Amino acid sequence: MVFEDVAVTLSAFARWTGSQDLAGAWSKGMRRAHDAMHCAVEGGQIMKKLAIVIGIIAAVVVAASVIALAQATLPGLVGEDVSPDGCLSCHRVTEDGRDHTMATMLQETHGRFSASRLADLAGCYTCHERRGDMAELMHAAHYAGEDNHFITRYNGYCTHCHSVDLASGAIGVKGK
Ligand code: HEC
Ligand code: HEC
Ligand code: HEC
Repeated sequence: MVFEDVAVTLSAFARWTGSQDLAGAWSKGMRRAHDAMHCAVEGGQIMKKLAIVIGIIAAVVVAASVIALAQATLPGLVGEDVSPDGCLSCHRVTEDGRDHTMATMLQETHGRFSASRLADLAGCYTCHERRGDMAELMHAAHYAGEDNHFITRYNGYCTHCHSVDLASGAIGVKGK
């Protein structure tokens, strides 16, 4: 759709300048725009064409930025891995002092357990490996609920937690 728009705009541009190739059309168009500016005072017709040139250039710039915005991101696979440490990339004390550590988030139900077992994923697994409920608990914690901040603030990407090894095809959990 966007590509079609750009193609239509470019071919209209080429048609208007009378050139076959785009590079020729572009330089010829710029020359005509330049000439047009010199003659602008002489008539409304030229002003109209100048306005068309500016309009076309603006349309091409807008179309190009729409294409750039539409490019996919999938942290760690397409684009930078924004959570290289998995859980601990998010569950930490922020620079401005807000405590998002897992120990604090689980205070109510896990407050009685030692700090080391709540410090990282390995700690969680000292109990949850046996229980075999980590996938269930983590997917529910990060995807359930009306206004889940994992979705609204972090776009809900699986690759915040999961690693994907493109060579072997294996999917893992960062920090496990
Ligand atoms: C990209 C950021 C991010 C990553 C990575 C992440 N979390 Fe979270 N986590 C959140 C956010 C945001 C919430 C709050 C969700 C909500 O609005 O309820 C949350 C909630 C939680 C909670 C609270 C659940 C409850 O019962 O209240 C726990 C526990 C938790 N995460 C553990 C983990 C563990 C373990 C990992 C790694 C396997 C992990 N998180 C990875 C952002 C993250
Ligand atoms: C010492 C054992 C132990 C450790 C360590 C532990 N858990 Fe748990 N966790 C439990 C038990 C037992 C339950 C079940 C509680 C229940 O069902 O009432 C539970 C329940 C939960 C729940 C669901 C209830 C809730 O509070 O939201 C989440 C989420 C959870 N654990 C996450 C974690 C994470 C993340 C870690 C590591 C940071 C962790 N747990 C470490 C024993 C542990
Ligand atoms: C907050 C971290 C987190 C996010 C986000 C997350 N997962 Fe997981 N996922 C886990 C953990 C932890 C396990 C348990 C791994 C284990 O115990 O070996 C798991 C396990 C799994 C498993 C294995 C199934 C099972 O029952 O063990 C699959 C499949 C999976 N995840 C798919 C996904 C998909 C698809 C998404 C995105 C829609 C996703 N996960 C997002 C943390 C996460």
